[in-house]
Amino acid sequence: MIASDQAGYDRIRDWLSTRCGIVYADGKSELLRQRLSRVLRCFNCGDLDQLAAGLLNDDNEAIQLAVMHAASTNHTFFFREAEVLDKVAEHILPRLADRSQVRIWSAAASTGDEAYSVAMIAAEKLGPSFLDKLLILGTDISAPVVERAELGVYAKRQLAHTPPAMLRKYFTPTGIEQFRVTEQIRNVCTFRRMNLKARPYPFSRAFQVVFCRNILYYFDKSDQINTLNAIHAVTEPGGWLVTSVTEPIRDLGTPWINVSTGIYRRAE
Ligand SMILES: C[S@@+](CC[C@H](N)C(=O)[O-])C[C@H]1O[C@@H](n2cnc3c(N)ncnc32)[C@H](O)[C@@H]1O
Repeated sequence: MIASDQAGYDRIRDWLSTRCGIVYADGKSELLRQRLSRVLRCFNCGDLDQLAAGLLNDDNEAIQLAVMHAASTNHTFFFREAEVLDKVAEHILPRLADRSQVRIWSAAASTGDEAYSVAMIAAEKLGPSFLDKLLILGTDISAPVVERAELGVYAKRQLAHTPPAMLRKYFTPTGIEQFRVTEQIRNVCTFRRMNLKARPYPFSRAFQVVFCRNILYYFDKSDQINTLNAIHAVTEPGGWLVTSVTEPIRDLGTPWINVSTGIYRRAE
């Protein structure tokens, strides 16, 4: 049976794909409808036709942000895919040790777990003084997760993969079952809202390493390619791209050179 607000649903789904690169296949319509039900309540919309009308009004940024947030999957946790982070620590960070400044970008950073994990790994591998010249930028399309990243406070479940020694060293307990990233690590990381579909990316200085993990599978193939090419353009020659092990990008025909699972390099 076709829902009476199917036209509104289609307009919202198309907007998410065109503006944010977030693709909901036909089989996922119940999931998207369920996620949008919160937004309907929040903005007092009777159905998705009404919500679509508000969304497509360019001035209505509040609805746009809420729809983006509701539609995106923010799942993340500290030290995710540790085997790839180990390779970053062993093979990439030591090559950056002598630089006067090191710039790392966590694109699609969600609540910041990835960016902070990388800062902690860098401090462990190269010593705390390396943090003085390290800048990690975390960006995400969703405003609420950017705010949470800036705060740096996490529930215990997000820290389930955090080695106990790192938990003791880089977090301070704050409230029940909550921990805050130490100031020393927070100072290294900056978070901003940014849409990966808005290309080219507005960075005047190149990054040595870019993390783009667990985001590409929400994009269709042409957006995956355009995103990878745009990241390539803001990575310095010889710089690295770190992807998720479940998102192989080898067959997409981008200029990235595969080094090992989850690690790619821009030609020198
Ligand atoms: C599953 S999380 C991945 C977080 C982290 N990179 C990791 O691997 O754990 C995906 C994030 O991508 C963000 N996102 C979705 N579409 C985006 C877009 N077009 N531009 C920037 N971020 C986007 C979502 O808001 C979400 O926080």
